Amino acid sequence: MSTFKRNTSKHGLSTEIVHSKSLGGQDFAALPVPVYRGSSTFFENTAAQRAPVDPLGLDYSYGLHGNPTQYTLAKRLAEIEGATHALVCPSGLTGIVLVAQACLRTGDHWLIPENVYGPVQALARSLHLDFGIEFSEYDPCNAETVLSAIRSNTKLIWTEAPGSLTFEVPDLKSILATAKAHGIRTGIDNTWSAGIAYKPFEHGFDFSVQALTKYQCGHADVLMGAVLSNNTAAFSDVERKNRILGLCVSPSDCSLVLRGLLTLPLRYTQQAESGLLVAKALKQHAAIEQVLHPEFSECPGHAFYKRDFNGFASIFSVVLNAEMTDAQACKIVDSLKLFKIAYSWGGPESLALVVNVPDSRKRRLAGSDGKCGPILRLAIGLEEPADLISDLMQAIDGAI
Ligand SMILES: Cc1ncc(COP(=O)(O)O)c(C=O)c1O
Repeated sequence: MSTFKRNTSKHGLSTEIVHSKSLGGQDFAALPVPVYRGSSTFFENTAAQRAPVDPLGLDYSYGLHGNPTQYTLAKRLAEIEGATHALVCPSGLTGIVLVAQACLRTGDHWLIPENVYGPVQALARSLHLDFGIEFSEYDPCNAETVLSAIRSNTKLIWTEAPGSLTFEVPDLKSILATAKAHGIRTGIDNTWSAGIAYKPFEHGFDFSVQALTKYQCGHADVLMGAVLSNNTAAFSDVERKNRILGLCVSPSDCSLVLRGLLTLPLRYTQQAESGLLVAKALKQHAAIEQVLHPEFSECPGHAFYKRDFNGFASIFSVVLNAEMTDAQACKIVDSLKLFKIAYSWGGPESLALVVNVPDSRKRRLAGSDGKCGPILRLAIGLEEPADLISDLMQAIDGAI
């Protein structure tokens, strides 16, 4: 029950309601970070309102440009990954777009790996067509192809570790050394490691992008991304682009991700261990040619993974035998009872997809006969691994 003092103000009711002195909960302390809402952000006086914009975007000037819920999330993400600067943005893909647009001008060139998250290839093609920004792809399994692809106008080297769908781990140390020697900015899509299993700033990256949609959210109910950096000049370019584009994330969504962070290490590790059990069981099945998981020694770049990472995610792919058809692969996925057919990963439910990998990349995976069957991608959730394994086994056995 609450007892309040009677209001004795002389103002009219509408004025009283708008100018109420009863602001929300300053002396209320609890674990959750409050959801701060507000488009108009009040200034103390005109001098504060006219002060120059903070290039790192940490002032309160307008709701679009940040509020305490968003800044707290950004700060906690920076603490996890060892960054000095961070911003949150509407999706993981937006984070990559922001880095590319902040670093590249017409006539510049950037490098992306062949096994990059698909929409980044689409982004590179679009930046080329619309703005004359050149790009080329390098072989993530051969760091020397980075060196040979560098041009005098190369301004950004993008990496992803491991690569999407096929999970090859690049030699990040050597790529970074090449980039530093040429004064080129570097960025990594570090979503797979959730900022836990790989620390990009200890190795010298300029940017890390996280799709918070995956493990940080952890409950498959938020789309969000983050750009992190400890290069102040590089980060302020991203922050400026973020403001120009008018991007903003909902404080309610930030509060869901803040809640997700509290259980992030537990979920990440548990899902990873479950995923590895499932991957090991699948390896034994005669219908499966190869399991693409960085923990396995046959995974391309396994030695780099062992050198640079201290953990792994719960997403991996499975290459079926060359005799298996696309129809059989679809039958496997359609017969699964516990796995949902869906994009994304990092949530409580396990997901499965038949994925399209270009032939050029498939050839790298293929056995000595040069053949390789359809590929399934599995993202393992929080279910019992034994249940997932028997579900997969019944689906594969039923399809062969
Ligand atoms: C490796 C990787 N990076 C980035 C993204 C983009 O994340 P979002 O869906 O939040 O845009 C995804 C999404 O699946 C992804 O797999």
